[in-house]
Amino acid sequence: MKGMDILLKEDRVFPPPEPFRRAANIQDPGIYEAAARDRLAFWESFARQLHWFRPWSQVLDWKVPDARWFVGGETNLSFNCLDRHLGSARRTKAAILWEGEPGEERTLTYTQLHREVCRFANGLKELGLRKGDRVTLYMPMVPELAIAMLACARIGAVHSVVFGGFSAEALRDRINDSQSKLLVTADGSWRRGTVVPLKKSADEALEGTPGVEKVVVFRRIGPSTSSGQGVPMKPGRDLWWHDLVARQSDRCEAEPLDSETMLYLLYTSGTTGKPKGIVHTTGGTMTGCYATTKWIFDIKEEDIYWCTADIGWVTGHSYVVYGPLLNGATVLMYEGAPDHPAKDRFWEIIEKYRVNIFYTAPTAIRTFMKWGDDHPGKHDLSSLRLLGSVGEPINPEAWIWYHRVIGGARCPVVDTWWQTETGHIMISPLPGLTDLKPGSATRAFPGIEADVVDDQGKSAEAGYLVIRSPWPGMMRGIYGDPERYKKQYWERFPGLYFAGDGCRKDAQGYFWLLGRVDDVLKVSGHRLSTMEIESALVDHPSVAESAVIGKPHDIKENSIVAFVTLKGSVQAAAGLPDELKAHVVKKIGSLARPDEIIFTAELPKTRSGKIMRRLLRDIAEGKALGDTTTLADASVVQALKEKYGEPE
Ligand code: WT7
Repeated sequence: MKGMDILLKEDRVFPPPEPFRRAANIQDPGIYEAAARDRLAFWESFARQLHWFRPWSQVLDWKVPDARWFVGGETNLSFNCLDRHLGSARRTKAAILWEGEPGEERTLTYTQLHREVCRFANGLKELGLRKGDRVTLYMPMVPELAIAMLACARIGAVHSVVFGGFSAEALRDRINDSQSKLLVTADGSWRRGTVVPLKKSADEALEGTPGVEKVVVFRRIGPSTSSGQGVPMKPGRDLWWHDLVARQSDRCEAEPLDSETMLYLLYTSGTTGKPKGIVHTTGGTMTGCYATTKWIFDIKEEDIYWCTADIGWVTGHSYVVYGPLLNGATVLMYEGAPDHPAKDRFWEIIEKYRVNIFYTAPTAIRTFMKWGDDHPGKHDLSSLRLLGSVGEPINPEAWIWYHRVIGGARCPVVDTWWQTETGHIMISPLPGLTDLKPGSATRAFPGIEADVVDDQGKSAEAGYLVIRSPWPGMMRGIYGDPERYKKQYWERFPGLYFAGDGCRKDAQGYFWLLGRVDDVLKVSGHRLSTMEIESALVDHPSVAESAVIGKPHDIKENSIVAFVTLKGSVQAAAGLPDELKAHVVKKIGSLARPDEIIFTAELPKTRSGKIMRRLLRDIAEGKALGDTTTLADASVVQALKEKYGEPE
């Protein structure tokens, strides 16, 4: 497996710095054993710290693969993120500090956020939204996205956030799969000084979404800027956010909801062409996000906490919105790009707001590393006390750079492994307790039973990452497709949760994640399916067949290489590669744009007709070719090899 050689040689150890250890929320190593002894009691102790309208009668009901947590309990996530804090000094504390890319600043205290959420929740009710209805949110990184999520949670509506970088077609498919009645969007968003036209994409998507009755549009850009003439509003369908909330009361009681009430859907890519709507429910997500934020990010009352993820991804759900607000923290939210107007924007923000906890992705860290030490060097980063990483394996070099240059060698780095499906962090150091090894996510969070198994499902030193028992935030299924849920996650190793990641366990029991073992690609931290990109290519009138692979990339982890065969009469004209790339962008979004298109007369296949991706990877990487004996027609590979260079 890739990366293994480097990781095997990595033997540096970083114990928690003494000042950090002494002040940490969690200092007792005994908690691991205590949690393992009684996992249910462990999770229950966190649930008890939150507000329940009605207590649960059973902590867990588990029949593979269906879990119910805090059975019979009634709670409300929005209440726990907001109302619960209003009786204390947190009432006037900043909940959200927001900075727009052009530089505007906004602060929302817990009291103000509560009012805005109540107003929007009342607005949702006015529009006819009821418990269980789905709402798609296609929004920029503005407080209103968090407000809309919390408003849905308040009345028991289900939010489905679609990342603003997805195309109109991708948005349309997700709206339809979730059968959303309402779309909430914005006139646009600022990115690198230009306007991302969200409403325009939404309008295109809405041509094919018969279920959507109303569209609420938040005015982010406005008609007065040089690039904005304003957006067209469709009478009877579209209404402005500000008009809707202006007429609402700022009081809306949080609805007591059964613990297993669906909280959100979040679409993610799997191994087929069709994205999966991952289902998460209320009580478990709440308890898991609360506990992990408290212990892993060591949240203190006075902290300024910044997770750079877009709320369109699961990291933004759990660690921009729910986890930190459940803990009464101050969350920093930034709308735009890290290199606008200059490559020091993040460091400028950290200095300006005196950020204490900073959580970002390896692909960003590697980019900062490439940009050079001068950019962070210009700023006072001494407020930072804890750093985090998520999304893909972090290579030891990037870890060391992050620790030294950003963390001033004084901040622990928590490398956190988890997935859209797991809902919250599963494997991570506890910063005041764990000796860190660069490149390892270290140990399973207390109460989580992670392991590595071989092909036969036996516990092993290297192989596949599995989870042996249920956890509160685990997915409850794939929306509308219970069979796929069972098959995808629970049948590879019966009774064990199959994560799809390769992993190694060292002598100390630390986990070293090695990347995906299926047809899921991580590109700049974004999760893509090779099949999804292939379907987008085959959708183009010139393309007969395609096979997409990931080629290791220094910064993005993977670059996207597409092998394409054309229909009989089509010639590969000079402009065709760009045309095909544009087609993928149109079908999925710019995040899926192939880096390379390689035309071939045929794709290498086994006698049973399976595309041999291993060979394609070898060709793309210019490596010596693997075993070709099962190949139906060995000359196909020979031809590709001749065209794209002889392997070393
Ligand atoms: C996949 C899940 C979890 C939030 C963001 C990604 C990879 C995630 C790590 C890590 C090594 C990691 C895995 C996983 N991954 N964190 N710390 N070390 N790999 O969520 O888009 O659902 O992707 O991201 O391959 O399966 P996601």
